[in-house]
Amino acid sequence: MSKPLIAPHGGVLVDRTLTGSARDEALRRAQTLPRLELSERSLADLECLATGIYSPLEGFVSEADYTSIVASMRLADGTVWSIPITLQVSESDAGQYPVGREVALTAGGDVLAVMHVTDVYRPDQTREAEGVYRTSDPKHPGVAAVMGAGSVYLGGPVSLVGELPKGEFGAHKFYPKETRAAFAEKGWETIVAFQTRNPIHRAHEYITKIALETVDGLFINPLVGTTKSDDVPASVRMRCYNILIDRYYNKEKVLLGVYPAAMRYGGPREAILHAISRQNYGCTHLIVGRDHAGVGDYYGTYDAQLIFDELNDGDLLITPMKFEHAFYCKRTQQMATPKTTSSTPEERVQLSGTKVREMLSQGQLPPPEFSRPEVAEVLIQAYRKEQPA
Ligand code: ADX
Repeated sequence: MSKPLIAPHGGVLVDRTLTGSARDEALRRAQTLPRLELSERSLADLECLATGIYSPLEGFVSEADYTSIVASMRLADGTVWSIPITLQVSESDAGQYPVGREVALTAGGDVLAVMHVTDVYRPDQTREAEGVYRTSDPKHPGVAAVMGAGSVYLGGPVSLVGELPKGEFGAHKFYPKETRAAFAEKGWETIVAFQTRNPIHRAHEYITKIALETVDGLFINPLVGTTKSDDVPASVRMRCYNILIDRYYNKEKVLLGVYPAAMRYGGPREAILHAISRQNYGCTHLIVGRDHAGVGDYYGTYDAQLIFDELNDGDLLITPMKFEHAFYCKRTQQMATPKTTSSTPEERVQLSGTKVREMLSQGQLPPPEFSRPEVAEVLIQAYRKEQPA
C-alpha cells in the first residue's frame, strides 16, 4: 500500500466548480449581472483558483490578504503566500462592481464564473512592486503587468459555471485532482516538479535527471501562460519537450503537464508561488536552480533558493531541490556544476540566451553540449517561420 500523497497547501484541495442545480441557478443569475471580460492573465488565474492549483485561495484576494502578502508574504491568517492574485479594473469601470454584489466573469464574451465581490480597494502599487518584486522599475515585466492593469482591485470568492478552455495543450492539461490520481496510479510517492519557461537544454536535462535519480517520478510542468515576447512560445516548447521525453528520458518516469499561470518574473517570491502550486499538484519536491523565475539583473543568482530558508518548519510541505549553475564541463566530459568540477571558465560550455537566439535565427545549431540537436532543429524551424526570407 502506498503512502497518501502530500497534503495540499493549507490542508484542503480547493474546487470552486459549481455543478447541477447550483450551476444552473448561478448561470441564470449571471444573465443579469454586470460583466467583466477577463484579460489573458486573469483568465489563467481564474483557472488556477477554480481548480485548486492556488489552494487554499478560493478567489481573488481580499484587501486584508493583499496587504499581508505584500508586507509579510503571508495571508492574513498566517499561511504563506507570496504573490497576490488580484483582479484589477480601471477606475472608470469600478463603479459597476460594488461590494456585496456578484459579477459575471467572462472570456470571449462567454460567462465562465461568478464572483461575489467582498472587497473593492485601491492599493499603493509602488509598494506592491517593491514588496513582491523588490523593485518598482516599470521595465521589470512583472511590475509592468501590475502597473498596466488598472488601479482598482476586486476581491472575492469565484465559482466556476462554464467550461475552462482546454486550449491547444488539452492532451497535457491536468488539474491537481488529475495529477494526484495519476501519481497514485503510478505508485509514485515522491515526485519532483520542474517549472520551466524555456526549451529544455542540457543543463535543464541534467538537473531534472539528477533530481529524478532520488525520487519516484518527474513532473515536467512548463508554464504556458503569458510570457515576455522574446521567450520561446509555449507551442514551440511543447514540441521540444515531447521530442526530448520521447528520446532522452524514461517515459515511464515522467509526466508532462502544463502550468496555466502567467509568468511574473518575480524571482524569489515567484519561486514560492511555484512551490505552493506544485505542492497542490501533489509534488513533494520542486527544482530551484540558478536565477529561478528571474529576469535581467533584478535578483541574485540564488535569491530564489535563499528565500526558502526564511520560512518556518511546516510553512510549506514541498521541499525545494536546489541546484547550482549547471554546464557542460570539457575537462570531465560531462555535465557538472561548480560543486562537482574544478574546471576553469574556459572549460565550461555556457551560452547566453541572446547568443543562442542569435545562432538559432541564423540557422546555426548550438553545440550539442548545450542543446540536443533535435531540440535546436525545432527552434530553428520556429525562428524561420517567424522571419520570412
Ligand atoms: S524559469 O523562469 O522557469 O525559472 P528556466 O526555464 O530557464 O526559467 O528554468 C527552469 C528551472 O531550471 C529553474 O529552476 C532554473 O533555476 C533552473 N535552471 C535553468 N538553467 C539552469 C542552469 N544552467 N543551471 C542550473 N539551473 C538552471
